[in-house]
Amino acid sequence: MFRAVTASLLVLLCLAVPARADVTTIASYDFSSGAQGWGPRGDGVALDTSAGNLRVSGRTQNWMGAQITPPFEKGVTYNVTAKVSGSVALTVERTPSGGSTTWERVGAATSAPGEFTELSGSYSYAADSALNLYFESSDATAEFTVDDIVITSDSDPTQSGLSTDFETGTAQGWNPRASATLTATGAAAHAGAYGLSVTNRQASWDGPSLNVLGKLAKGSKYTLSVWVRSAEAQSLGLSIERRQNGTPSYERVAAPVSVTGWTRLTGTYTLAHDVDFLSVYVESGEGTLPFEIDDFTLEYIEPKPIQTDIPSLKDTVPFTLGAAFHRGATLGEHAKLIDKHYGSVTPGNSLKWDATEPEEGRFTFDDGDALVDFATGNGLEFRGHTLVWHSQTPAWVFEGATKEVLLQRIENHIRAVMGRYKGRIGTWDVVNEVIDENQPDGLRRSPWFEITGLDYIRTAFRVAREVDPAATLVFNDYNTEFPRKREAMYKVVKQLRDEGVPIDAVGHQLHVNIEQPPTYYIEDTIERFASLGVDQQVTELDVSVYTDFVSTYPTVPADVLARQGQRYKEIFDVFRRQAAKLSSVTIWGVADDETWLSTFPIARVNAPLPFDDELQAKPAFWGVADPSKLPAARLALTVPAGTVTVDGKRDAQWDRQPGQPVARVGSVSASFQLRKAPSGVYVFADVTDATDDRTDSLSLKLGTATYTIPRGAPAQGFKAHTRKTSTGWQAEALLPSGAATTLDLTVDDARTGPDAVFSGTLTFVPEVKEFTAPKETPVVDGVAEAAWNKATPVGTGTWIEGTSGATAKVRAMWSPSGVLYVLAKVTDPVLSDESPNAWEEDSVEIFVDPENNKTKGYDDDDGQYRISFAGAESIGGTFDAFAIRGNLTSAVSRTSTGYIVEAAIKLPTVTLSRDRVVGFDVQVNDATGTARTAAVTWHDPTGQSYLSTARWGVLRLGK
Ligand code: XIL
Repeated sequence: MFRAVTASLLVLLCLAVPARADVTTIASYDFSSGAQGWGPRGDGVALDTSAGNLRVSGRTQNWMGAQITPPFEKGVTYNVTAKVSGSVALTVERTPSGGSTTWERVGAATSAPGEFTELSGSYSYAADSALNLYFESSDATAEFTVDDIVITSDSDPTQSGLSTDFETGTAQGWNPRASATLTATGAAAHAGAYGLSVTNRQASWDGPSLNVLGKLAKGSKYTLSVWVRSAEAQSLGLSIERRQNGTPSYERVAAPVSVTGWTRLTGTYTLAHDVDFLSVYVESGEGTLPFEIDDFTLEYIEPKPIQTDIPSLKDTVPFTLGAAFHRGATLGEHAKLIDKHYGSVTPGNSLKWDATEPEEGRFTFDDGDALVDFATGNGLEFRGHTLVWHSQTPAWVFEGATKEVLLQRIENHIRAVMGRYKGRIGTWDVVNEVIDENQPDGLRRSPWFEITGLDYIRTAFRVAREVDPAATLVFNDYNTEFPRKREAMYKVVKQLRDEGVPIDAVGHQLHVNIEQPPTYYIEDTIERFASLGVDQQVTELDVSVYTDFVSTYPTVPADVLARQGQRYKEIFDVFRRQAAKLSSVTIWGVADDETWLSTFPIARVNAPLPFDDELQAKPAFWGVADPSKLPAARLALTVPAGTVTVDGKRDAQWDRQPGQPVARVGSVSASFQLRKAPSGVYVFADVTDATDDRTDSLSLKLGTATYTIPRGAPAQGFKAHTRKTSTGWQAEALLPSGAATTLDLTVDDARTGPDAVFSGTLTFVPEVKEFTAPKETPVVDGVAEAAWNKATPVGTGTWIEGTSGATAKVRAMWSPSGVLYVLAKVTDPVLSDESPNAWEEDSVEIFVDPENNKTKGYDDDDGQYRISFAGAESIGGTFDAFAIRGNLTSAVSRTSTGYIVEAAIKLPTVTLSRDRVVGFDVQVNDATGTARTAAVTWHDPTGQSYLSTARWGVLRLGK
């Protein structure tokens, strides 16, 4: 009877489930290797697998037999088949959370004596329950045998995802990692009636964890998400622990972020390894404070197939094209993408010191081997990255290290790591990031350097050469496209090569952004190093969509991606032009779904690579492969007001801004600037074009009107002057244009065909103001001594917050020893420094851009120097602003109407001399209690001075 009901229920169930082609095997047991997790059920029961099946004996009750905890999830239907000999039934003993136990029959079968027959049935359940699956027999004492049990499901557990919301009032499978207490409680609910409170933690890693083994397939990608809350602020993150044969590894899914109110931790994860243990857990950055979690979800991400109808990137360039990769990218669509587009690979992390020699003499090559094998199997070249670096190097390396010990450690490390892959890794970044252009000798003050001087570099290259004489040995660094770093690195590499250190190539990492630096910097660097006779490689190219280290987009806008496409085009134009000097270009990642820029320098959405999150081609791809497919894009050009004397001499007005570069074509390039005046638009252009042809010209189309300035002949119908320079020619003109807001500028070189062009939209802004600093050295003591009377003050009148409040009279002076002095007399009768935020205290901010580059974002020598009325200093710059460290000296004093700030700022990256212009601004913050109620600047109206130097004024060094 019971059986009949079950059977008809099953028929109904089968009808209700739509037929699906995919049947997934969840588990199978063939007893070829013991009981495979099955155990006896009932006292005296014995299981015997010696015949390669499961023989059950010693039974005294009909419910006795063999049992296992089945890999069943609620809501999923399973089909079970088994071979049985005897009269056998298969049953689930199910105990719902907080309910009473029921027994549910899956199937039953009786074989002829000594024969096997098939037992089959299916099973599903709806409420959270504890389960036990067991074979029994209606004959209480009969022996029976089972074999070849197969459990399948027509839904794939690795694709069905998982969610826990604690609405059952239970922990729903979450367990403490150590001794933490987990309690489902209404007080911890994010949504619904329950959440999970986590208390009594004994370590930062102690907290709730959920077993997800079997829910993630190797090579598949998942989104994980959980809501967390903490009464006291702490940083919380989401991680995965995986193990294989008892060896654990830990991976971050969402890096710890500061949490108080409900915060969502989310990230994607690709399972790249075989595992026999897999759990997800919430941990804190540090400490053992309690927290709460709720609404956890794990979702499978269906991979999009890669595009097969687009060009292979590697075939579009005349050098080896590579990508940085990691284990997860050796599987599935990522592997296909690598295979189609790249000819070379390099591991993002797997061959670094921390990954290969975590403890002295203990080498781990698991990931390295897997990646090198993948490359070998796919015919890819391999760049080894990196042998000696100050980062991602374990602390033991420097512990108790004398020079001798450290050099020996380097030698051992290189022999082991390089030796293992000899002949399979053709190129090695031997040293990485050893240059610091802000040191007098150009060398980074790393522990390597502090302990050994230059010898660590010498040793590294010597040993590397010995280990694999055929390998190309690279001296790798970032920011090498910037002139100061370029020169610092050039000097060091030249010196070492002159000594005979076997440096074969220099590596330019080239982590650039969508605006900075100009591509000609890159080209100048390649040309500069060519003179050393070294090979060159681009080793870590990516193009961040941000120009500063603060901004975030919720999703990157399409016009930004289009602009990035243009930027990739310009960069690859440089590479193609310089191909004879470049042996390879490696992009730092396979696709946007895995980029270090999503956590560096801050966590934010970033999209720096040619393929998007779903591995599809972006404008950046077309910028490399076929720029004719790029969406049209005009660059935004800011045009200040200003008047210029057009008389054949370069007007000093042009010093106030840097020129806008026009990307080079052939050997022709240019830079230009505009000023808007009532009488028209002034232009100044500097053209690089060594060959003087009669038909060379510059033409500017403003709106619909075109103005042509011939190189050697007078312009027709408007005022223009041209003159020769050592590299080409310059032009200055007044174009009697109306209010046009578009510009198409063409640098026409008669000899070489295609022209260098710039297409922009114009935004008109007020004049870039200038004031003068006399050459004079004051004493920095908060007292305005007589010397300051030489300096003419400027006021602050540009309100960026409020419309009235504290203001200042500001003077500046300079000394040839490289110091800028600033005096601000602030009118502010009521002073407060109650806010914990420095910018909300009564204070003066001085902004200095020594090269007057007026970049969006900060260069590493640009500084924001803040001094409160009480003398507290705070300094802002780019995140690794080595060039402004320790540059500020200040003194303050009180007056009857406010306070005086006197500051000295060292500018070590430039040489100060008469007529030099420096980007400059001053801001006065006016606080009332703990709030900033007003802020005013001398110049920048945007309120963005702390992020961008673009709209600061200028200071001219006078006599
Ligand atoms: C980065 C990796 O991409 C990240 O995964 C890791 O967390 C930090 O290192 N310069 C280098 C690379 O030489 O090794 C760095 O790689 C990026 C900057």
